[in-house]
Formats: sequence, structure tokens, C-alpha cells
Amino acid sequence: MEKFIIRGGKSLHGDINISGAKNAAVAILPATLLAKDVFTIENVPDIRDISSMLQILEALGADVRYLSKSTIRIDTRNVRSQTVPYDLTKNLRASYYLLGAMLGMYNNAQVAMPGGCNFGGVRPIDLHLKGFSALGALISTDGGVIEAKASRLIGASVYFDKVSVGATINVMLAAVKARGLTILENAAREPHIVDLANFLNLMGANIKGAGTDVIKIEGVGTLHGCDYSIIPDQIEAGTYMVAAAATAGDLMIKNVIPKHLEPITAKLRECGAYVEEFDDAIRVQATGRLHSCNVKTLPHPGFPTDMQPQFTVLLTVCEGMSIVSDSVWDNRFKYVDQLTRMGAQIQIEGRSAIVQGTAQLKGAPVKADDLRAGAAMIIAGLVAKGTTEIEEIVHIDRGYEDVVLKLTAVGADIQRVDVQPPVDVQRIKRA
Ligand code: UD1
Repeated sequence: MEKFIIRGGKSLHGDINISGAKNAAVAILPATLLAKDVFTIENVPDIRDISSMLQILEALGADVRYLSKSTIRIDTRNVRSQTVPYDLTKNLRASYYLLGAMLGMYNNAQVAMPGGCNFGGVRPIDLHLKGFSALGALISTDGGVIEAKASRLIGASVYFDKVSVGATINVMLAAVKARGLTILENAAREPHIVDLANFLNLMGANIKGAGTDVIKIEGVGTLHGCDYSIIPDQIEAGTYMVAAAATAGDLMIKNVIPKHLEPITAKLRECGAYVEEFDDAIRVQATGRLHSCNVKTLPHPGFPTDMQPQFTVLLTVCEGMSIVSDSVWDNRFKYVDQLTRMGAQIQIEGRSAIVQGTAQLKGAPVKADDLRAGAAMIIAGLVAKGTTEIEEIVHIDRGYEDVVLKLTAVGADIQRVDVQPPVDVQRIKRA
């Protein structure tokens, strides 16, 4: 087990390169199962969620090789299995995309219910399963394993009761080879949905409308391999944008698509930070204390829920009172307990956090409750006076490539160290 030790109070200055998008990669990698061919995928982030997904592809029979740190060759010609057991899905929420991909390819999939980030509430997949059923699949669950099968998937109209990134992606994966036309209505519009659609179209699929709330998929008979480069990670970029603003720093964040960052840019400007957009970079600069603003998370193009914890940290050190509401997840404020231990003044009321800005956070031992909560703790540690120790950083490693290296290069004092094993209580008692 490891932890981060951060000595806070240093402004961040310099350049940071953003890696490929986790949430695009975890959809694109299973999509390779839809063809028996060879793929070269670039800009793949070097993070735990990707290792978990690659391990699953290998277990199914794919040959996976790294051509460089961020380029992978995947050969799916010898994939035979359609079953993914729990020991492979327990660390990865997005393992549910294997259901859509294998159902689309083989009309059959058995995938153990996934693990991964749990924000403190339930993360249902009823909309995914309803979409598969609409295409003609029979769904059953036994011993924590979901089985989806069909004699032949047939295109259909699917209306999602709620905007869901995962359901949109999963049903898209299942529908690309179904017979006839599938129409997804009230679809999610996140950049990684467009990225997956672009990837599938390069494989020979016929998908139109990704990025809008109506996606039309005309089924095709066969798909083939391709070379593809994954889009930059919107949330990693947003995290460093907020870190620059919170530490009164000046960061040039490179390899980004500024349009994907607009909701974050708008809120940072509202707080008084200077944000300048370039073709594939974004500069964030702040001097002194910024001021409060209200934030409400919404599906894309609204403010992303995956930036909510990080932005809340910034607001804890802004002047004035802010209200942060999360309308995507029921219970995404669990991390607030950790922040209050650092001196933040936050009160939770239902799905909102009322944040009273304070001049200074103070370093404390805290833990990463989940991936983005962990990123929030890093920003809090960078801003706080004194030393912050963050435990359970395995969550952070799921989604942030080389976080210590990237932050150290721009002036942060952050170290990864081994956690000492706990004292043997029995031994003490005997002594
Ligand atoms: C994805 C992201 C996650 C992000 C979330 C919202 C990935 C791998 N993860 O998660 O980081 O926080 O989008 O932007 O891309 N819902 C249902 N039934 C379902 C599915 C979802 O009720 O079948 C609800 C959820 O409880 C939630 C809302 O819909 O309240 C949105 O969830 P969804 O967009 O599906 O999130 P994920 O795809 O799981």
C-alpha cells in the first residue's frame, strides 16, 4: 500500500501534458472485440483502469502488446471466450461495456457485475439492460453474473428515461452489427461518446448523430481493425486547471481540446481566474484569492460531475459563499468529511454543498474515497498550509497517469511513499 505526502503552499508554474481520455479508452478497448482483426490504438492513458481492461481482453483471448508507453496493438483474431468472471471485473466499473461489445459480436455475453468507483450510492445499469432487451436480447442474472443473449439482435428505437453515458455507449456497442436501424433517443452527448462513434465508424460501422441526443445506428455485417488515436482526457485537464487556479499559479495545459473544457473554463473565469484558449492547449493563471460561484453538475455540455469534488476544493478557499449541486449522482459528497478535517467549511443539504470560503486549509491525514475525491484531496493538499498525507491512493492511480511526475515538474512538493504496516495489536497485548 502507498500514500501521497504533499507539502502544500506552493504555486504551480509551467507546462503539463494531458494523457488520453480514460472514459473514451475504457469504451474503445472493448469495442475491438467487435471485429476479428488487428488494431493500433494511440494516446492510451497508462493508468490502472486500462491495465484492468487489457487484462480482461487478454483473458478473453486477445493478444495485447505495448508498442510504446501510450500505443497498444490489439489482435482479437483468437478471441474465443464470452465470459468475464468477477475477479476481472471487480476493480473496473466500465467492465460492463464487455456486455454490449460481446453481445454485439457473438449474440452472447456473460459478465460479472462490475466493481470500481462507488460514490456512496447505488450505480444501477437498468437502462443498459433495457436497451439490450429492446434489441431482442434475453437478460438474466445468476450468482452476480449478467447473461445477455439473442438469436439475432434487431435494430429498434430506444428511449432512455435518464441521460446515461454508460447506457448510451453500451447499447451503441450492441447495435452496430444488429439487423436494421437502431435509434437512441435522449442519448448522452459526452466527448467520449463521439470518440467511440468515430472509432466504430473507422471500423466500418454506420453511426450518425453522436454528440447530439439522437444517435442513429444502421447495422452492418462485419467490422474490421483500424488505427486510432484517443482524445485527450477532459477531466485530467480540468483537474490541473483547477489546481492552477487554487494554488494561484500559472499552468499551460497541453494536448487538450479546449471546447471540451468550456464548462470548467466558464466557471474558473467566473471565480476570477484568467483562462486563455489555444488550438490544443489552455492556460490558467490566478493571482491571490478568487471569489465564490455556484456550480450545478449536469450531463454534457453542462458542468461535469467528475469535476465536482475538485472544484469544491477551489471554492473552499475562495472569498464568499458558494453552492455546489450535483444533479447527476445522488450522493457524491462523501469526500467532504475529509475536507472538513483540513479546515474547510462545508455543509451538506440534500444534493447540495454549501461552501463558506476560508482563507487557509491546513494539512491533515486524509484518504481518497474514490477517483475524483482523491484528485480533490491532492488539490486540497497542494493548497493547504503544512503536510497532507493521502491514503488509499489506489483510487487515484485508476485515472491519473504519472500524477506525481506531472505535478513535481510544475513545482509541487508531492511524494509517493509506502504505508508502514499497522502495529500488531495482538503483540502489544501479549507484551
Ligand atoms: C460515466 C463515467 C463517470 C461519470 C458519469 C456521469 C465512465 C466509465 N464513467 O459513468 O465517471 O461520473 O458517467 O458523467 O464513463 N443511471 C440509472 N440507470 C442506469 C444507468 C445510469 O439510473 O442504467 C443513473 C445513475 O445512477 C446516475 C445517472 O444515471 O444518476 C448518470 O449515470 P451514467 O451517465 O450512466 O454514469 P456512468 O456511465 O456509470
